[in-house]
Amino acid sequence: MLIEICIGSSCHLKGSHDMIELFEKAIADNNLQNDVVLAGSFCMGCCSQEGVSVKIDDGEIFGVTKENFNDFFKTKVLDAV
Ligand code: FES
Repeated sequence: MLIEICIGSSCHLKGSHDMIELFEKAIADNNLQNDVVLAGSFCMGCCSQEGVSVKIDDGEIFGVTKENFNDFFKTKVLDAV
């Protein structure tokens, strides 16, 4: 699974650096280092949505916040790998 985290200027201001750390920690905690690749991405064109833009496997783009991160990780990553 490829998870791309937007590091464009708008998402940067919304905390993409913290988001990368949340993903890195969750991937390590769940031993998914061999199943998930994290990557940075330029602007995905979704700057106006809430949260940092995160794309999974070239699919839908989600707006991920610190508040919805755990739900997002469980439903879109843990349940899918
Ligand atoms: S800067 Fe992230 S979607 Fe535009």
